[in-house]
Amino acid sequence: ENAALLKAIIENAIDGIITIDGRGHIETINPAACKLFQYGPEEVIGKNVSVLMPPPDRDQHDQYIERYQRTHEPHIIGIGREVKGLRKDGSVFPFRLGVSEVPFPGRKIFTGFIHDLSREKEAEEQLKEYA
Ligand code: HEM
Repeated sequence: ENAALLKAIIENAIDGIITIDGRGHIETINPAACKLFQYGPEEVIGKNVSVLMPPPDRDQHDQYIERYQRTHEPHIIGIGREVKGLRKDGSVFPFRLGVSEVPFPGRKIFTGFIHDLSREKEAEEQLKEYA
C-alpha cells in the first residue's frame, strides 16, 4: 500500500525529516532527525521547532515563518541554507537545511530536510591546520 511504503521510506531516510505547522510546531520527526538532535519523538512533537536551534535564530524563527506567510518571499524555501542545530546535550552541529511548503488542503505544512555536515566541517578544519 502507498501510505505504508511512504512511511517506510521516511523512516529509513539517511537525512533528517521534520514537518511543522504554520506556527512552527513540530508535527512529525523521523528517526534520522531524532538521532541527530538526540531527542525521542515524544519529547519534541508539539514543541516549537526553535528548540532545535541555538540563538540568534532560536529567538527569531517565529518571525521568519510569520514574515514568509505575510510576504511569500522565500529566504530558505527553494534555496537551502547551511545552519546550526542544537542537540539535547547542548552541543551545536552544522547542517544543510532544505525547506519546502507542502500544499495540503486546509492545512499549512512545511517540511525540513536536514543533511548533517559535521564530518565535512571537521575535515575542512583539519585541512586548514595543515595549510
Ligand atoms: C526560515 C533557521 C529549522 C522552516 C528560516 C531562516 C533561518 C532559519 C535562518 C530564514 C532567515 C532569513 O530570513 O534569511 C533555521 C535553523 C534551523 C531551522 C537554524 C535549525 C533547526 C527549520 C525546520 C523547518 C523550518 C526543521 C521546517 C520543518 C522554516 C520556514 C522558514 C524558515 C518555513 C520561512 C521561509 C523562508 O524563509 O524561506 N529558518 N531553521 N526551519 N524556516 Fe527555519
